[in-house]
Amino acid sequence: MKVRKAVIPAAGLGTRMLPATKSIPKEMLPIVDRPAIEIIVEEAVKSGIEDILIITNRGKCAMEDYFDYNPEVEQSLKKSGKDDEYELVRGLANMANIVFVRQKETKGLGHAVWRAKSFVGNEPFAVLLGDDIMVSPEGQPPVTKQLIDAAEQHTASAVGAQLVDSKDIAKYCSLKVDLIKDNVFHVTDAVEKPRPEQVFSNYAILGRYVLMPKIFEILENTPPGFGGEIQITDGLNTLCKVDKMVAVDFVARRYDTGNLKGYLETIIDFAMKDDRVNDWLREYMREKSGAGV
Ligand code: G1P
Repeated sequence: MKVRKAVIPAAGLGTRMLPATKSIPKEMLPIVDRPAIEIIVEEAVKSGIEDILIITNRGKCAMEDYFDYNPEVEQSLKKSGKDDEYELVRGLANMANIVFVRQKETKGLGHAVWRAKSFVGNEPFAVLLGDDIMVSPEGQPPVTKQLIDAAEQHTASAVGAQLVDSKDIAKYCSLKVDLIKDNVFHVTDAVEKPRPEQVFSNYAILGRYVLMPKIFEILENTPPGFGGEIQITDGLNTLCKVDKMVAVDFVARRYDTGNLKGYLETIIDFAMKDDRVNDWLREYMREKSGAGV
């Protein structure tokens, strides 16, 4: 079983990051100096993915431009001898084979993934949510690769999950799980945005999936759920009853860039690891906290 394709749903309206997201796709907001979507695409590529479908909607053209050539900028960089910058800009268009499709109507994550049906065809595929940036510790594979490995080993769909605080589980989904071995669990139930009496466990899916193509016919027949939207979790709840599904308690720090606090945490942590600015940033923050500002 080889996973070659990935789907990145990026059609959300980004209302938690207004006003910036009024005219900038939230996936294009910079994490230091790279848009979040580039970091997600990089994870997919490092996991062995060759073809990527980004699901967008109107107003998200900046993403398409970002992964395209830009002859005007490229020529100007070449002319002024800025070869490194030229390679950087040019390389973005060659990261992977990236195609786009529009969701047209905002009908939920399940509906967005369903739009990938003809792109995916009849093979297992990965889904990476645009808000969730994952940073694996040194020496550990990217989260998508961790899921691909588990999916291959168990011949199953695999979802990326971690324990979340009880007070937060209602913001995610809740999984019913039984330990198989180490950090891999068998999934037998899933509920989106659970009410307290619906919580199976504090294991929630966080932003990464490797799914069997059977999910498409299931999503086609999945009625709107939480918030009146077609939920991927409702589709997974059906899928795990007819087919094997595992949850991988993945080894990585997850950042939620879709809200202000999570976005700032991501930028600060990325800047702290960036050799160009880390010493300066530490000193600056020390000064600020010393001055009580
Ligand atoms: C989505 C999914 C949810 C998941 C969460 C975090 O929710 O529907 O199951 O736990 O992402 O990845 P959203 O953040 O869009 O409300």
